[in-house]
Parts: sequence; C-alpha cells; structure tokens
Amino acid sequence: MSVSTEQELAQAVAMLRRGGLVVFPTETVYGLGADAERPAAVRRVYEIKGRPADHPLIVHIGEAAELPQWAREVPRPALELAAAFWPGPLTLVLKRSLRVPLLTTGGLDTVALRVPAHPLALELLRRFEGGIAAPSANRFGRVSPTRAEHVRADLGGGLDPATDTILDGGPCSVGVESTIVDLSGEVPILLRPGGVTSEAIESVLGRELARSVKPGTRAPGRLDQHYAPEARVELISREGLPTRTRELLAASERVAVLVHTPEEAALLPEGALMISLGEREELVANKLYGALRDADARASVILVTPPAPRGLGEAIADRLQKAAGSAALK
Ligand code: TXA
Ligand code: MG
Repeated sequence: MSVSTEQELAQAVAMLRRGGLVVFPTETVYGLGADAERPAAVRRVYEIKGRPADHPLIVHIGEAAELPQWAREVPRPALELAAAFWPGPLTLVLKRSLRVPLLTTGGLDTVALRVPAHPLALELLRRFEGGIAAPSANRFGRVSPTRAEHVRADLGGGLDPATDTILDGGPCSVGVESTIVDLSGEVPILLRPGGVTSEAIESVLGRELARSVKPGTRAPGRLDQHYAPEARVELISREGLPTRTRELLAASERVAVLVHTPEEAALLPEGALMISLGEREELVANKLYGALRDADARASVILVTPPAPRGLGEAIADRLQKAAGSAALK
C-alpha cells in the first residue's frame, strides 16, 4: 500500500471514530459511510443524502464471522450465502441485534449486512473494527456513483473537510448495487437484484427465491422512480430504436442512445449522441451508471434497449426500468 493511501486510511478511521463521514469505494458503487453505532453520524448520512429517515441503511462489516454481533439469529442459509459470496455484492437482511441502533435500520427490527469486496473498503473495515452504515453516495433517488468524481459532483457540498473525507479507489468494478436477500422470515425473498445473480443464489440455497415483497418492507424497488437521471429515459426494443430516435430528433429533442453493438449504432440516424455500453452483461453493468450520467449531462431523452432479465441482466433491466420510471417499454 502506498504511503498516501496509508495516511488516507488512517485519517478515515480517525474521522469515523470521531463521528465524521467517510465516502469509500466498494466493488458495486461508492458508499457514504458512518459509524453504524453512532446515531448522530448516521443522521448526517440521511441529511446529506436527502433520504427519508425510514429508509434503512446497509451495515458493512469486515467478515462473515462478525455476523452474530449484528444479527440476533444467523440461520444456516445466511452462513451458506456468506461463505459462497462474501466478500462480494450480496446483502443479507437478518433480525437485528441490539448493537444496531434503530436509526440505522430506519426503525425496522431487521438489519441489512454485507462484506464488500473492494480492498480499500476491507482495509477500512479491518482497521475501524466496527460496522460502517453506508447507502450509495448519491442524492436520494439519483443515479449511484461509480467513481469518486461522481460523489464530489453530487455530495461534495454537503461534506465538511474538517470532519469528512473521500477515499478514491478508482472506478467500481461491478457497477450496480448488491443483491439484497431477506432471510429474516420463513422464506428467502429477493428484495433487489444486483451484482450476484439470483440463479447463483438459488443454486447455493437449493430453492427458489420468493419475489413478492411483504407489505411494510422497505426496499428500493418499492419506489416508482429511483436511480433516475434528469433526462427522460425511454426503454425501447432494438427494432424500434432507429425510428424512435428519428422521431425524437424531428421533435428537436437532444437524444442520447446507449448502444450495445456497432451493428445497432450503424442503424441510427445522424444527430443522436451514441454512448457505448458494450454487449457482455458484466461490461454493461460496469458502464451503466457512468453512461447514464454522461447522457444526462448532454441530452434531454435517453434511449436504451434493456437486456433480458436473466443473470446480471436482471439487475441491469431493473435499474433501467426504475430510471425510466413509469414510462412503458416501447
Ligand atoms: O451495493 C450496495 O449495496 C451499495 C454499497 C455502498 O454497499 N449500497 C447501497 O445502499 O446500495 P442503498 O442505501 O443505496 O440501498 C440499500 C437498500 C435500501 O434502499 C434499503 O431499502 C434496503 O437496502 N435495506 C436496508 N436495510 C434493509 C432492511 N433491514 N430491510 C429491507 N431492506 C433494507
Ligand atoms: Mg442507493
């Protein structure tokens, strides 16, 4: 580890211990972190993010062996999933232990826990020796940050350099948030598709994940619009893309198209801004939020063909659906 990274980590730990906030990279997206056990620090996370206080945070921990400190029951499926996917983009919702303040869980009696895979995040957690409560480091309802500069653009003004810091760990490798599985009840429920595919989780569990969300459960999927840029996002089939692009250009819209292949790009009329996502799902996930941010800065309408909702495509399709809000698939 370089001397500057060493110093930044030491400073970040000191800031967390004094109740300050630390923005840190994870393999999914950047998190806005606070000591999970300090309500005053957690309250600032809600404020800076502009997030309603009944919307729970994920508590990041250093290793699966810490689970019994944070959850009052650790059922066998939790141990199996943790062994298979941690450190990694999976969050487990379990019954909360008394160590977790209610403010951190948005008043719920369950807690969301995850061991992130980014080396800087793991080193921060190891040195801090506590849990770090962190939502994605964006304004509530906006596109999640996958680079430190996204965080500076979104939240920079809310952070106080005297008490808070940003650890820059480069671009996030996965690019979409963690998969959230609720194991606090009788049946495992998928609350949010994410970086670990449902198929992989189901194969470890040996059963299917339930998809219906219990009333009262607070998960991002329950908001109609989330992960949304300012520009209007339209989901469209590959066949409909060239015609729709032409229509929008004719209506004097500034159009950005997120394209997957050169063949798709070749069919588009001149005048549209093209941003390449690539075709492999890992690549699309990795580029998605950056592409939405770029497109948002330069266009009034963003067109994109969502992938089939299988594998990592399930998370990508979910985020695109939310970015589009109630706009129907054309
Ligand atoms: O990849 C990720 O999960 C990133 C990185 C930073 O770890 N974090 C993240 O946090 O996406 P956030 O706050 O943007 O989304 C976490 C979601 C919340 O929207 C919340 O609804 C859900 O997790 N959640 C947290 N605790 C929960 C609980 N006890 N029960 C149900 N859902 C919960
Ligand atoms: Mg978020």
